[in-house]
Amino acid sequence: MKLGCPKEIKPQEFRVGMTPNAAREAIAHGHDVVIEKGAGVGSGFPDSDYIDAGAVILDTAEEIFATADMIVKVKEPQAVERKMLREGQLLFTYLHLAPDPDQTHDLLASGCTAIAYETVTDPRGGLPLLAPMSEVAGKLAPQVGAWTLQKANGGRGVLMGGVPGVRPAHVVVIGGGVVGTHAARVAAGMGADVTVLDMSLPRLRYLDDNFRGEFKTSYASQGNTAELVAAADMVIGAVLIPGAAAPKLVSRAQLSTMKPGAAIVDVAIDQGGCFETSHATTHENPIYDVDGVMHYCVANMPGAVARTSTIALGNATMPFMLALADKGWKQACADDPHLLEGLNVHAGKLTYYAVGKALGLDVTSPQLLIK
Ligand SMILES: NC(=O)c1ccc[n+]([C@@H]2O[C@H](COP(=O)([O-])OP(=O)(O)OC[C@H]3O[C@@H](n4cnc5c(N)ncnc54)[C@H](O)[C@@H]3O)[C@@H](O)[C@H]2O)c1
Repeated sequence: MKLGCPKEIKPQEFRVGMTPNAAREAIAHGHDVVIEKGAGVGSGFPDSDYIDAGAVILDTAEEIFATADMIVKVKEPQAVERKMLREGQLLFTYLHLAPDPDQTHDLLASGCTAIAYETVTDPRGGLPLLAPMSEVAGKLAPQVGAWTLQKANGGRGVLMGGVPGVRPAHVVVIGGGVVGTHAARVAAGMGADVTVLDMSLPRLRYLDDNFRGEFKTSYASQGNTAELVAAADMVIGAVLIPGAAAPKLVSRAQLSTMKPGAAIVDVAIDQGGCFETSHATTHENPIYDVDGVMHYCVANMPGAVARTSTIALGNATMPFMLALADKGWKQACADDPHLLEGLNVHAGKLTYYAVGKALGLDVTSPQLLIK
């Protein structure tokens, strides 16, 4: 198979779909790899790294889309890229089709086969191609929150770890999943006093069994949440209800109970945010003030550390990419029901039920297509 990796064109996207290591592996499996000139530069991979791995550099995205059997990307194809997709071509990337009828329509019209990173599953019910970005965003959250807490940024002027004789910052993490656990561990590592709230007792038990001593846990009742939020220097929002908008767990009225200059880092902003006062911000202008509480609500946090994020994503996508290239999408999906869950579009048919429900479109069973 010929695998192609174009340069990402979404604003402020510096990640790349294939690392030089991924290209090397694909070539070792007997495939050809074409990379658009400069595609890896934003993640610190010059063209020469890909050439050393055995890939061929092409000047334009048009050449990549015209020659590759399978396109490997990071973000959903933009309108100009969707025009270049063709029948029979395989697309492997994040898609997030449910809120995006234009993209869904264009992918159906192209005749391509599209496998979405975000809907591939694992045997434990997790989302293995989403998890690495949650790990990155979780670890970043206390880092950006600590910066937000600095006086010059409108914050309370509190140091995460305190110093001998001065108490550390009190950090509250709402949601103890992948983001929340990584955020809590980093905040605790910085010396903060950390409490994680979650509604799932099994999850709280897991956290308590594994991280007792590092951070505390608390059941996310309204009363506990209100009390802890009022006492916090920093609140990190990390909840997820799969397939749904994030629940609003802290109201605007509650901000008046918070300490002046406290920091909110709403990682769940990509699902609408879990604070009533959250709205998405960008890396250029990440924070804003509501009632004296500083909000950090960047929807693509991993973009801030593009190199780490690219390598983390590549580690997770590589086995699936190789299976797709080695066997073709049909056999690879027939052999692996978790990869089949990633199939969203095939030859003009929508194959993912949640997307069909969200957009009012007919859905064809993916199982029928692999028979
Ligand atoms: N902003 C970004 O750049 C970025 C990057 C990665 C992930 N995210 C987002 O971060 C959020 C968390 O992702 P994740 O991978 O950690 O999800 P996850 O499924 O691993 O964890 C979510 C946790 O939230 C808990 N939860 C659900 N409802 C709750 C409630 N009402 N109160 C308390 N806890 C509740 C669940 O029990 C679960 O433990 C998601 O919205 C995800 O999209 C954002």
